[in-house]
Amino acid sequence: MIKRIINKLLWIPRKMYRITNAKREAVRLASSHNPKLKAIGEALGEALAASLSPEEKQLVDRIEQRRGFLLRSEKIIEVIDYGAGNADSRRTREEMNKGVRSTAVVGKVSQWSKPAFWALVLFKLVRKLEPNSSLELGTCVGISAAYLSAALQLNGKGRLLSLEGSPAIAEIARETLRDMKFENSSVITGPFYETLKASMESAKPIDFFFNDGHHDHDAVIQYFNESLPNLADQSVVVFDDISWNPGMRKAWVEIENHPQVSATIDLETIGIALISRHPARKEKFRMPL
Ligand SMILES: C[S@@+](CC[C@H](N)C(=O)[O-])C[C@H]1O[C@@H](n2cnc3c(N)ncnc32)[C@H](O)[C@@H]1O
Repeated sequence: MIKRIINKLLWIPRKMYRITNAKREAVRLASSHNPKLKAIGEALGEALAASLSPEEKQLVDRIEQRRGFLLRSEKIIEVIDYGAGNADSRRTREEMNKGVRSTAVVGKVSQWSKPAFWALVLFKLVRKLEPNSSLELGTCVGISAAYLSAALQLNGKGRLLSLEGSPAIAEIARETLRDMKFENSSVITGPFYETLKASMESAKPIDFFFNDGHHDHDAVIQYFNESLPNLADQSVVVFDDISWNPGMRKAWVEIENHPQVSATIDLETIGIALISRHPARKEKFRMPL
């Protein structure tokens, strides 16, 4: 009880310390000679400062309005979850491949979307990195996909392919993207083990890959290994929820040490990896947020 109160009291100063530290690290990254790390540093700096041009703000505000609408929705839909369930679920591979069927309120499903700050990080990464081809695993109701599409639209180039297992959820994501009039993105429905290969084939070479789907050690490593031949040299892969459970943390450490990963930025919630075919050296940055 006392420990909980102390932790609550320390939350604000700890958070402020982390933000100050992350801002300092972002400046350091932004001064890198490597153009990709420089772009990532600038993106993180702008996201931390919530710095938005009027055009960016207009799109971000519209996406947040759509999020608000979905969060308030009491509509009930059928959900087929091909993922890992909760952080401490122990689903077998067979259960995950078959998919766990249930019904859920749209407002509740929409809570799975990345919160506004992390969605802004994705948006700024795409604004700075200017990818031609992007792939997302885990569309959900289309909030992160909308942020990515908005950034591509403002860049004036690039396409997004986003994959979602649950048909009813994928339909809501399509509505989100249609509502925003984004014509640079498509949602593919089906479990990743059925859709990923063909999607990568059509999207390759992929410059930006956001992996926010199946939060399971083996799945993350398997999909990462499958993605490698389809990723462009110097592409950027963002992994979500790298500290969600010990398995996800283990997967992240393996990715940090992978021979085709030349630099990593560990933000504790998400991890960013820079892919190089022949890395000369490895750089690791840590800025927990
Ligand atoms: C955390 S949510 C994605 C949130 C979304 N990226 C956002 O921020 O707006 C993960 C989504 O991945 C889907 N998913 C998880 N595992 C999957 C799998 N193996 N195949 C297909 N879809 C999967 C789930 O149905 C869920 O909608």
